[in-house]
Amino acid sequence: MSAFPETRLRRLRRTDGLRALVRETSLGLDKFVLPLFVGPDTKPNPALPALGRFSVDDLVRETEELVRLGVSAVILFGIPEEKDDEGSGAWDADGIVQRALRALDGTGLVRLTDVCLCEYTSHGHCGVIRDGEVANDESLDLIARTAVSHVEAGADAVCPSDMMDGRVAAIREELPETPIVSYSAKYASAFYGPFREAAESAPAFGDRRGYQMDPANVREALRECELDVAEGADVIMVKPALPYLDVIRAARERFDLPLAAYNVSGEYAMVKAAAARGWLDEQTAALESLTAIKRAGADVVVSYWTKDLAAWL
Ligand code: PBG
Repeated sequence: MSAFPETRLRRLRRTDGLRALVRETSLGLDKFVLPLFVGPDTKPNPALPALGRFSVDDLVRETEELVRLGVSAVILFGIPEEKDDEGSGAWDADGIVQRALRALDGTGLVRLTDVCLCEYTSHGHCGVIRDGEVANDESLDLIARTAVSHVEAGADAVCPSDMMDGRVAAIREELPETPIVSYSAKYASAFYGPFREAAESAPAFGDRRGYQMDPANVREALRECELDVAEGADVIMVKPALPYLDVIRAARERFDLPLAAYNVSGEYAMVKAAAARGWLDEQTAALESLTAIKRAGADVVVSYWTKDLAAWL
C-alpha cells in the first residue's frame, strides 16, 4: 500500500455523494423492530415517548401510523391488570398481548412477541419461585405455554427473554414451524431500568443475576448462542447492544444465523436525557449508535428509535 502523499483518504470524504458511495454500513427500516407496550389503558411517557403504553384500541391507531411511516416490525410487551405467583396472565388466551395480536391482524406489520413471565408474576421474576429461587425446569412449561398462546393469537415469531436453560427446546417442541428469536446472550444489566418501570416488571426481591448473564463474560455468551442454535433458534440476539458491541461481533463471526441486537431502554434514556439538557443532539447520537450496532455485526436491531428513524431516513 502506498503511503501519503500518494494515498489520501480524505479524497473520498469530500462530498455527501462520495461518502454515501463508499459507506460500509447503512440503516434500512426493514431491519428495525419497534418495542410496543400494551396495557389496560393508555399512559403516555413524555420524557421517553417510546416507553409509553397503549390500550388495545389506541395500539391499533398507533400501528396504523407506524405502517404509514414505513415501520415493518414490532415486538409486543404486555402489562396485565392482575399478576399472580405463576404469571398465568402470560398464557391466557384472552390476555393483553393475545388481544393485541388479534387486533393487529391484517395490518401488515411483522408481529413479534416477548415471551417472559416477569410482567405477569407478582414477584417480578422471569420464572416460578421455589425456596426463594427461580426454578428452571418448572418454568419451562409455562414459558412454552405462553409462546403457544401467542402463536395461536397470531404472532409471527416468538422471542423468549427469560434466560432459563432449555427454553428454546421447550418452545421448539411445541412449535415446530414458528420462528424463534432467542434473547440468547441477555446480560444482567443496569440499562433495563426505564423498561422495568414502563412494564412494571422490576423484581420484588433480589435481582436477575441467577439467570441473566454476567456482564464480564463473552465466551459464555457464545456458549449460550451455541445451545440456542442446537435447541432450534432461528435468530440469536445480544442484549443490551452498545456496551456489548464486542459480543455482537464475536457472535457474528461464529454463527451464520441472523443476528439481532437489542438497543435497550437505558441506552435510549441516556441519549434522551443528555439531549434534553442540550448536551448532545438526539438524532445524530441515535443514528451514530444504531449505525455502530449494525457495523458491529447485527442484522436486526430492536430499538425505541424505530418510529423516529422512519422520519429521519
Ligand atoms: C423481560 C424483558 C426485559 C427487557 C426485555 N424483555 C427486562 C428484564 O429482563 O428485566 C428489557 C428491555 C429494555 O430495557 O429495553 N424479561
